[in-house]
Amino acid sequence: PLSARVNRHDSLEIGGCDVTTLVEQFGSPLYILDEETLRTACRQYHDTFKQHYKDESQVLYASKAWNCLAVCAIVASEGLGIDVVSGGELYTALNAGVTPDKIYLHGNNKSRDELVLAIESGCTIVADNWYELKTLVELVTKSSPVRIMLRLTPGIECHTHEYIRTGHLDSKFGFDPSDLDEVFAFVSKQPSLNCVGLHAHIGSQIFERQPHRDLAAVMVQWLRDAAKYNLELKELNVGGGLGIKYTESDDPPSIEEWSKAICEVVQQACAAENLPLPKLLCEPGRSLIATACVTAYSIGSAKVIPDLRTYVTIDGGMSDNPRPITYQSVYRSVVANKMSAALTETVTLAGKHCESGDILIKNAQLPKTEPGDILVVMGTGAYNYSMASNYNRLPRPAAVLVANGEANLILQRENYQDIIRQDCLPERLK
Ligand code: LLP
Repeated sequence: PLSARVNRHDSLEIGGCDVTTLVEQFGSPLYILDEETLRTACRQYHDTFKQHYKDESQVLYASKAWNCLAVCAIVASEGLGIDVVSGGELYTALNAGVTPDKIYLHGNNKSRDELVLAIESGCTIVADNWYELKTLVELVTKSSPVRIMLRLTPGIECHTHEYIRTGHLDSKFGFDPSDLDEVFAFVSKQPSLNCVGLHAHIGSQIFERQPHRDLAAVMVQWLRDAAKYNLELKELNVGGGLGIKYTESDDPPSIEEWSKAICEVVQQACAAENLPLPKLLCEPGRSLIATACVTAYSIGSAKVIPDLRTYVTIDGGMSDNPRPITYQSVYRSVVANKMSAALTETVTLAGKHCESGDILIKNAQLPKTEPGDILVVMGTGAYNYSMASNYNRLPRPAAVLVANGEANLILQRENYQDIIRQDCLPERLK
């Protein structure tokens, strides 16, 4: 899916830009985001829903995967809305020019400030729990009610890493289904709450076909239940979670297959219940942006432990990609300036952090490398920059957007001044 090729200098080219040249120009580590790949994924979701769903639909980008001005602007220009999970993400989306009627605020512990920002901006709030509902009733003073959806925990198990599962009953997110009657009764009596629909999300990096089908069917049952309370719920949001292919053995359904299945299940279930079709929403993050980005690093030191292992070190690591150490995630890599060299070496790619677990890739098959070679890790668009830290006080990398041979900076590289920007030295310590 990535618009990459090997050019006549035997170098990797993405979006028409030579990766080696990009690193010379912008430094390393460098996130390189391919605009065309991101736009193509947006269109695949958008078009499949338009084609297979007989009523209104809206694809939202789960911006927790990578939230910054440029990414919000690109996905919004493709007609997608945006799911945000904090005041910071909401602020970014608003500043990128995303219209509030296409922004949905999530979160299981939204602060009063976040709720006020959301109410004032006019976005939709996905209410997660009783405390939030009651706080909202208290905060809404305007004559117009606030637009909300209700998040429910569907009790659907799926096979993914336990840290990124959210839909099983023992989850911190959403109302328990046993609360449903009480929640519907409460909401239906609140003039300050305009409840427009239901939301659920079962987890992330899911390959199985059945859990999302089951989810869509369960949600239609809840819609039917809501009718008893005279709640006219017009929107159904089935969340995100479609997995992507990080390695050869990963086998996720395609965006089209996933989206089509959701449309079909909702339509069938509504027909069976004799319910009007709701506006159908989904909110993928990873599957929209993961494959659109690579991270380029410079190779530095190496350590050969005879008969055991060769460590090859790059100039970043767990601070720019915390996924391997957090979830044992597996990535693929290539050496950008030696694309057609034979893969003769098996090495452990290590980061530069003071932590033994800071290993990016175990047993990477690479050509013979030397300091200064450019290592490219593929598929880093989701949950890399967004989970990046300054661990060991490493400045966060820059990001460039590439398209048609042009590269534009979308995130400036942090420098040492940035590193101490928020530090305060009390007078008596000077
Ligand atoms: N909607 C809700 C309510 C979510 O909680 C999430 C992800 C999404 C949508 C988007 O899911 P996606 O399509 O990206 O799978 N940091 C972890 C992933 C955490 C996902 C959290 N919620 C990782 O790096 O794998």
